[in-house]
Amino acid sequence: MSGDTAARTAIVTGGAGGIGAAIVAALTVDGFRVAAWDLSVETSTEVGLDGCIDVAVDLTSGESVAAAYATTAELLADGTQPAVPDVVVNNAGIDVIAPFLDTDERDWDRIIAVNLKGLFHVCKAVLPPMIERVAATERGATIVNIASDAGRVGSTGEAVYSATKGGVIAFTKTLAREQARNGVTVNCVCPGPTDTGLLDQLAATNQRLYDGLARAVPLGRIAQPTDIAGVVAFLASPAAAYMTGQTLSVSGGLTMA
Ligand SMILES: NC(=O)c1ccc[n+]([C@@H]2O[C@H](COP(=O)([O-])OP(=O)(O)OC[C@H]3O[C@@H](n4cnc5c(N)ncnc54)[C@H](O)[C@@H]3O)[C@@H](O)[C@H]2O)c1
Repeated sequence: MSGDTAARTAIVTGGAGGIGAAIVAALTVDGFRVAAWDLSVETSTEVGLDGCIDVAVDLTSGESVAAAYATTAELLADGTQPAVPDVVVNNAGIDVIAPFLDTDERDWDRIIAVNLKGLFHVCKAVLPPMIERVAATERGATIVNIASDAGRVGSTGEAVYSATKGGVIAFTKTLAREQARNGVTVNCVCPGPTDTGLLDQLAATNQRLYDGLARAVPLGRIAQPTDIAGVVAFLASPAAAYMTGQTLSVSGGLTMA
């Protein structure tokens, strides 16, 4: 890492959601100017006092992602140069909880479109400028992908979700190998059950399973979004500069894979 003083910038997809908002907050505390990309954002906003912007995007559309990137580069610009992210957190994800035999092709297409294809669109948009910026400044850049322990060990009622998250883990390792020579590191965080809207779906479909999960966690509780955000902030920090291609579970010990 060089000693240049340009403001560090980050993009967090799904930045309006439970874990995403906690990641945005953690990176802001660490001094990043952050773009929170989300489907639930209606209109992109100017930089707030906290150094954050909200950017409207639908990750399933390559055009929408390209437009979100252009908006981010302009709104987070430092002086006349468009902003290029130092950190990109691919966090957005969706799930539909149902036994495999009750899922249909539409469920699969929708979950794959967000959880996997969204990653494709974002990485295609951000990597070329990140690589160019790293070459020009010798300051490294990093991508953090949010997968799930469902992608490591499987999860009843989450067949397609687990398949996409296993894909995210494998994609992380491949991209890490390809991008190491360009000074871009790529790592993956696998949350265990975390207290957000996504997990509320599980409680709504099967409260007994939810309660059982909470009891099964060795550390004795469901994660809070800040538990995940702290690990993402570590991976985004210079302390993790020598890590790439790694998959970190943040699950209170529920999985030890
Ligand atoms: N909550 C958990 O228990 C848990 C466990 C393991 C992994 N995860 C993963 O953590 C990540 C964040 O999940 P969360 O629990 O905060 O969920 P959440 O539902 O609170 O947030 C997800 C966010 O993604 C956004 N989003 C969905 N589709 C989008 C699209 N097409 N374009 C742009 N944004 C879109 C939503 O609007 C929402 O704000 C996901 O990848 C999820 O799979 C969550």
